[in-house]
Amino acid sequence: MTNKNALFDAFKQTKYQVAGHGPRNIQVLKDALENVDGEQESDMYGNGKIIEDFQDKIANYLGKESTVFFPSGTMAQQIALRIWCDDKGIKKVAYHPLCHMEIHEQDGLKKLHHIEPVLLADKDSVIRLEDVVNMESDVACILLELPQREIGGQLPDYQTLERISAYCRNNGIKIHLDGARLFEILPYYQKSAAEVCELFDSVYISIYKGIGGIAGAILAGEKDFTEKSKVWKRRHGGDLISFYPYIVSADYYFDQHADKMNQYYEEAKELAAFFNECGSVSTKPNIPVSNMFHVHFDMAKEDVVPVLLSVYKETGVGLAGNLQETSDKKCYFEISIGNKYSTIPKETLRKVFQMLDEKVK
Ligand SMILES: Cc1ncc(COP(=O)(O)O)c(C=O)c1O
Repeated sequence: MTNKNALFDAFKQTKYQVAGHGPRNIQVLKDALENVDGEQESDMYGNGKIIEDFQDKIANYLGKESTVFFPSGTMAQQIALRIWCDDKGIKKVAYHPLCHMEIHEQDGLKKLHHIEPVLLADKDSVIRLEDVVNMESDVACILLELPQREIGGQLPDYQTLERISAYCRNNGIKIHLDGARLFEILPYYQKSAAEVCELFDSVYISIYKGIGGIAGAILAGEKDFTEKSKVWKRRHGGDLISFYPYIVSADYYFDQHADKMNQYYEEAKELAAFFNECGSVSTKPNIPVSNMFHVHFDMAKEDVVPVLLSVYKETGVGLAGNLQETSDKKCYFEISIGNKYSTIPKETLRKVFQMLDEKVK
């Protein structure tokens, strides 16, 4: 009988890990601060050179007129949709049934803003043009989450994005991008961030996923929109007097990681292929379209845990710290590739998958 946290504890003790950039510890901030001039002034309530320079840098990268730094994506996106609903005088938005806002935000959009969602598409698929065109309600805005995290990080093809965007623009519907992992999808689409963002009226990106910062989010759009978002940020208590630890680390890790997304994407495809060679194991998507994917087991969680524990112990490679049960006979975990994957010797990886295959057969 293994204890409840046995997998997480064993994972933390492994020498190598297939996912992420490394532990979330204070060293992450120390590294970012190492070469920073200590005389630089703090930002103050969202103003000041340090925050404005970073916002301008990201605006330039995203090809948007203006951006605002937020403490979280949760706050930034609810505010974005509130602004579009107020502008349109319609308190309805449309999005995927498994998007972050619907399942991970304790109904913030409904409880704080009294905005009603219209759920588009089947929960196991990405949103298609037909889902948008056949929508019966009048909505102020459509939110697309790219990639769709809860279904393994799937993506619609680029033409579909262009068509949904054109449809929204022709029909007076605002289109917002949950681009928590925007950088991570650019290699698959073979597009620049600015090209993707062009299709959207407002865009949120995360500072701490593939980018690897500590926390934070950027909301981007035209100046009129971002100025309104600053007012809402203040109303939400999101205007911290000083954001500089987040800004400095965001800037540092943006420079470190933004150009490495192609490597992570190629490595995700390689790793998924290793998993797919093992019996009872499959990945979703079968071939990843970003640095992330889900690993599904046709086995009960209680049978998978001991298998993983022995693989970690024998090889020193951690695959995941927790397993989600989807039924009493199936479970899965999520992987997002970062800097850690390339540190694992290939011979060790081969041993991992040989062992996994033998044990799950
Ligand atoms: C797709 C997506 N959107 C939004 C968020 C919210 O970001 P934050 O944690 O900064 O509130 C997350 C966080 O995991 C996410 O995965």
